[in-house]
Amino acid sequence: MHPMLNIAARAARSAGNLIARNLGQQGSFEVEEKNKDDLVTTIDKQCEKVIIDTLLKSYRDHSVLAEESGVVGNPDSEYQWVIDPIDGTTNFVKGIAHCAVSIALRHNGKTEVGVVFDPMLNEMFTAARGEGAFLNGHRIRVSPRDSLDGAIIGTAFPTRYRDRMPAYLDLFSRLIANCADVRRMGSASLDLCYVACGRFDGYLEQGLKPWDFAAGDLILREAGGIVSDFMGETGYVKSGNLVSGNPKMLRALLKICDVQNLPAILK
Ligand code: IPD
Ligand code: CA
Ligand code: CA
Repeated sequence: MHPMLNIAARAARSAGNLIARNLGQQGSFEVEEKNKDDLVTTIDKQCEKVIIDTLLKSYRDHSVLAEESGVVGNPDSEYQWVIDPIDGTTNFVKGIAHCAVSIALRHNGKTEVGVVFDPMLNEMFTAARGEGAFLNGHRIRVSPRDSLDGAIIGTAFPTRYRDRMPAYLDLFSRLIANCADVRRMGSASLDLCYVACGRFDGYLEQGLKPWDFAAGDLILREAGGIVSDFMGETGYVKSGNLVSGNPKMLRALLKICDVQNLPAILK
């Protein structure tokens, strides 16, 4: 295994142990509302500390972008770790056993390794750029489904961007009319990994932050998927608006998003 992937997986397991020990133990942690309907717990903060300590112990001069701490470490480094200590905090707070630790490493802005760990199912999704994607060491690939007929699509409502809701609900009604069913599971990093291993046929969500998707994006692409924004372009890294699936599924989803002129790569 790529040495940096190895360290990331070790850090994810340490944080995952904390999550597993505390899930469902509502009295064992405190909950705070950072913004409306956007929660953080003392376990998120403990997990983040364990991860940052583990990474910076091995890579002292690297930089870190972490959901709860912001930028730490050496801000001039070419290497930046992007960390979501608990992706699915609302599930965690409610005792719903679906959340993950997400860790990615970017080198000059390009994602080199990614780890998404579900401590409840003991599922470790990993990828290193150019080397494929794996679930607990076994190679994974996106589903081969080539149309929305029979497809299960992961998504999420834009509850943190209420002004986007009417447009999203329009899109949602077109989606549900054309696919088999949708899932709103509550952890974007796992949504991307579920597309990567074929559990979902596609996934779309708006307004994600880099720590939600940095690792899952690489894992999905290394599993043969593609990711675009809602126009079929590459702007998702900045906008956090993601549509994904195998190339044919992405094309079908973009049609639902009303994209008239697909970029050349998707024609
Ligand atoms: C959230 C989850 C959720 C997604 C939200 C994210 P958090 O992350 O990934 O599935 O719909 O957009 O913010 O807050 O639990 O780390
Ligand atoms: Ca998140
Ligand atoms: Ca989080």
